[in-house]
Order: sequence, then C-alpha cells, then structure tokens
Amino acid sequence: MPSYEVSRVRGDFPILSQPHHADVPLIYFDNGATSQKPQAVLDALTQFYTHHNANVHRGIHRLSEEATEAYEAARRKVARFINAASRREVVFTRGTTESINLVANTWGRANLRAGDVVLTTVMEHHANLVPWQMLAAERGFEIHYLGVLPDGTLDMAEAERVLSEGRVRLVALTHASNVLGTVNSVRTMVRLAHAAGALVLADGAQMVAHHAVDVAALEVDFYAFSGHKMYGPTGIGVLYGRRAILEAMPPWMGGGDMIETVTLSGSTYAAPPARFEAGTPPIAQAIGLGAAVDYLSTLGMEAVHAHLSELTAYALAWLADIAGVEVVGRSVKRAPVLAFTVEGVHPHDVAQLLDSAGIAVRAGHHCAMPLHAHLGLVATTRASLGIYNTRAEIDTFAQALKDLTHVHAR
Ligand SMILES: Cc1ncc(COP(=O)(O)O)c(C=O)c1O
Repeated sequence: MPSYEVSRVRGDFPILSQPHHADVPLIYFDNGATSQKPQAVLDALTQFYTHHNANVHRGIHRLSEEATEAYEAARRKVARFINAASRREVVFTRGTTESINLVANTWGRANLRAGDVVLTTVMEHHANLVPWQMLAAERGFEIHYLGVLPDGTLDMAEAERVLSEGRVRLVALTHASNVLGTVNSVRTMVRLAHAAGALVLADGAQMVAHHAVDVAALEVDFYAFSGHKMYGPTGIGVLYGRRAILEAMPPWMGGGDMIETVTLSGSTYAAPPARFEAGTPPIAQAIGLGAAVDYLSTLGMEAVHAHLSELTAYALAWLADIAGVEVVGRSVKRAPVLAFTVEGVHPHDVAQLLDSAGIAVRAGHHCAMPLHAHLGLVATTRASLGIYNTRAEIDTFAQALKDLTHVHAR
C-alpha cells in the first residue's frame, strides 16, 4: 500500500460496518482494551480449523505436520516483526499477563532473594505489579516504585539514584502507559540498568500495535505483549527473552511438550521456547497472530505510527478546547491513549452517554489503581485509538463530549 488509506483499512474490518445501536454507526475507541480483527485474521482462523486442524509437535501424520509448520511459521513472523535474533527467543503465552507471570515465576523465583530490589513504576498496569508483589511476599525482596512527574513521564533521576545503590536485579516497566499514554524510553532505562547489573523487562502491551518495536535495538532482556491488542485473536501473547537468559531459566508449568526425557525418578527439560510452552498451545490463535503481523507489516508500521500520531494530536487539540475536559498525561512521546475527566460527571456516566452516541470507550481505573491514586482520581474515561479510526470519528466524539458538558453546565 503506497500511502495510508484509512477507508481501505476500515473495509478490512467486518465489525465496523455493523450498526452499534439501531441506526448509529459504531465508533470503536476501546482499542487499548482490545482491538477489532481484520478479515485476514478471521480467515486464518477459519482456514486452520477447516483444513489443517491437528495437534502440533506430536503426530507424524500430514495434518499434524501442517499444523506444526503453521504454528512455527507464526513464531518466525513474530520474531521478524520485533527483530528478535532467533525464533527461539519467542515464547508463546496467553497474553502479556501470562508473559510477565512467566518471568516472575521462573527467572524471578530463581534469582530474587532478600536484599534485592525490583524497580518498577507507579504507572504500571496491574499485570506488571501484582506478579512482583506476590513473589516479593514469598522471596522477601523489596519493590521500589518509580514516581511519575507532573507531565506524566518517569522520574529518571530517581531511577539513576536507586540503580546506583546496586541492589536492583530487575527493572520492570511499561513501554507505553495504558492511562497516561506516556511512551517510556526503554533504551535509556536499559543502558542505566545494565550499567548497574540489572535486567529489564518491558511491557509492550500498549506499544506494539502502533509503533515498530525492535528488541535488538532496545537491548531489552524481556519484552511482553498480547496478540488481541494488535488485531490478532485473544488467548495468544508473546514473551520475548534474550536467548542466553531463557536458556538459563528453569521451567514454570510442567507437562507435555516441555520435556526432553521423563522417568519416574525425574525429568529433563526441552530447550526454549518449548521449555515454557507446556501442554497443547493456542495453535489457531498463534496462527491468527501471524496473520495480524502480516496485516500490520503490509500496512507498514511507519505508516500506522504516522496515522495514529496524527490522529492523537488531532484528538488532543479537540479535547484541549472543551471546557471541563481534562486529559491526564502530557508526555510529548505518547501512545494513542487519551484518558480524561469531565468536570462534575462520573467517568461511567460519560462512557454511557458516549455509548448512546455509538462511541465505545472505557471507564474505570483501567487496571492501574496505584496510578489513579497518585493522580488523586478514582477513575477516568479512556478513548484509545486504532488503525481504522478517522478524524471524522474524533469530530463526532468531541461534539458528543461538548454536548455533554453543555447539558451538565446548564
Ligand atoms: C500496559 C498493559 N499491560 C498489560 C496488560 C494486560 O494485557 P492482557 O490482559 O492481554 O494480558 C494491559 C491490558 O490492558 C496493558 O494495557
């Protein structure tokens, strides 16, 4: 595709052509929660179940070989998409949450003990907080939460200070905040952390769908993301891990497919990534994710990023113009995520009123309760944009918000 044609992109998503309510078209602004699926992904799922369905890595029959080839081809596509050195660095999981729990339960349980520090941030999704809290309760290490500055960026001076104390073993931070939209400089954090002898895990759940991610350039040790937020199916996610680190990690879940040999006196384990994929994996979902990667690659991640940056700037300008509406997070480098408050109207009411205008947004704490507490808020309303959204949809959204604030001011 020579240039980004949003109308053509929209045509690839069947759900966008069905009405939301009787005669109101759908404006889907809940992409941060999950994205819609293009026909190519739906077709990949149907194709697999219709023509190639079998279990992977087990059968010697033709269908099983086809299923295995398609599953491993998806892994190669994902590896290329994030510029991993090898497909062996790509572990399929159920999603970002499981990827982070995998690191906590394998690398974390083997390496973290009393006296150590895990450095994370106040802006994390619960998926990158709770696993560390659970493990800290068991292993006795400390968690230090990096503060967020008034513009919504991380306090990097504090990061340098804490890292210089020499007790941090892991920095676990989000690449992009699902509330503030802030895009954190993972590369800078990696440099600081590695100089202090710590590894870095980045949560890419809100990054991969709108920005090219190059794990080699970032030099990050672990990178976690979900397929369903990047136009792929639910039930599939990725943990990227540097090969030497994955190879040194013990398994987490035990069962079929993750072993080398099993006797009644014990077992030895397969090399990564199989070591971390016990049981029948989400085969169709991985193949669907491969189709989503192909779809995004055909659009071009630079074009996708340009479209969403432009749209985000357009939406921010609109929202800045509406009295009583306050966007949280003012980072210059930001994801297409706009969380906001409307003076005097509860976020749930805002979301409900927008829904009646056909606009799907999210209201609540967005699984970031500590961040909301830090902001002095209980909840926000969040519009999060995707590749099929348009300026005209932003206009409708802004007008609906304007009407809402006017009605309320009366
Ligand atoms: C920043 C961030 N991390 C992690 C997650 C969890 O993703 P999943 O529910 O797909 O595991 C989300 C989902 O909203 C997120 O926004």
